[in-house]
Amino acid sequence: MVDNNATLNLGEQSLDLPVLEGSCGPDVVDIRKLYAQTGNFTYDPGFTSTASCESALTFIDGEEGVLLHRGYPIGQLAESSSFMETSYLLLNGELPDQDTLNDFTHTITRHTMLHDQLRQFYQGFRRDAHPMAIMCGVVGALSAFYHDSTDISDPEHRKISSHRLIAKMPTIAAWAYKYSIGQPFLQPDNSLSYTGNFLRMTFGVPAEEYEVLPAVERAMDRIFILHADHEQNASTSTVRLAGSSGANPFACVAAGIACLWGPAHGGANEAALNMLQEIGTPDRIPEYIERAKDKNDPFRLMGFGHRVYKNYDPRATVMQKTVREVFEALNVTDPVFETALRLEELALSDDYFAEKKLFPNVDFYSGIILSAIGFPTTMFTALFALARTVGWVAQWNEMISDPGQKIGRPRQLYTGPTQRDYISLDKR
Ligand code: CMC
Repeated sequence: MVDNNATLNLGEQSLDLPVLEGSCGPDVVDIRKLYAQTGNFTYDPGFTSTASCESALTFIDGEEGVLLHRGYPIGQLAESSSFMETSYLLLNGELPDQDTLNDFTHTITRHTMLHDQLRQFYQGFRRDAHPMAIMCGVVGALSAFYHDSTDISDPEHRKISSHRLIAKMPTIAAWAYKYSIGQPFLQPDNSLSYTGNFLRMTFGVPAEEYEVLPAVERAMDRIFILHADHEQNASTSTVRLAGSSGANPFACVAAGIACLWGPAHGGANEAALNMLQEIGTPDRIPEYIERAKDKNDPFRLMGFGHRVYKNYDPRATVMQKTVREVFEALNVTDPVFETALRLEELALSDDYFAEKKLFPNVDFYSGIILSAIGFPTTMFTALFALARTVGWVAQWNEMISDPGQKIGRPRQLYTGPTQRDYISLDKR
């Protein structure tokens, strides 16, 4: 893997640093010995130039707008795979054959129920709690209910806890929604698909049969595929950092959910639809574009821009297509979609967005689909968390399985006071 060396000159000192080559993407300068050999740290807040780990799961080429899971392009997975199959792929590295996929789906299906005492746990939340607040709490609480799978040094425990997290997340998210609208919780129906089951637990009521519409089920499954993993994003890095101390996977995923909630990350889907609704009609778009460009205005175009993509986010392409499919299947339209298309057109023809390479990201169109299906905006990020759980556990497993894994412990550039003596209160 070592291709060549980079030479770093620090005053009189000169240091050869190995340059490591991955299978795709930029080479990395290995600075692990820098501090020991020179007493210097590197400085990279926000990790704009830092590879925090080695990973074989997901690759993004931000310049070209490419996203691969275990080598497979996201467009192909969204078109031809299922969320269960993509989950297996992320966890295990290869596409399953039919029997293996059946076994995996069966295992996940058998873990969809929640411990009955968790029902009471929901009652502790305020009636109008945000679903993400409930998700953080309930997922963290899973470690109090499933002690038998929290020995992270045991690969079998890691596997069971991973399956439990993926399987229980739809039930947890659906119940968060049911709780917020005062409807009874529905138990999973294991005769349905992963996604169909989630739709029924979310929109069904005990008094009536719920029919899962195949087109909606397919669209929802595709949305899950599009959110399944995304390399070392903020929430995944949070899960890895939490896990690096040896914390159990339920606690780590709860930390990931907390990070995902922010509007710069998973919370952007909720913020994007709110913004589009606030804009209302296409004639108001220029006003919002001007605001987004104004340095003195904190407003940003939500669902636009990305740390890694400096081209069209390939997930947004699939999302835009899926909006049309869902509208057609449900025989609905939404003027917000017209506003979104026009906003995209105007922003992409504006110098500010062109120069900064700001394009629509996954969150720009997803809210329009979710809203058409019937989800309130507060559920959008919860759905992102549901799907991203597979990426979180796959990345967590990859990290824990690495024999060289160390606790994540960054250092800092200290700019506070230098050492000084304590002054007693009566002398201040
Ligand atoms: N609207 C207006 N200006 C923007 C936007 C935007 N959405 N995004 C970035 N910029 C500008 C920003 O002001 C900065 O300008 P300057 O260089 O003059 O200071 C420049 O573009 C670079 O932005 P940055 O904030 O330094 O870039 P970043 O890589 O740290 O941030 C981002 C990436 C996604 C947080 C940011 O683009 C953003 O806030 N977008 C809106 C929120 C959003 O849609 N987030 C979802 C991301 S995709 C889903 C996910 O992975 O969670």
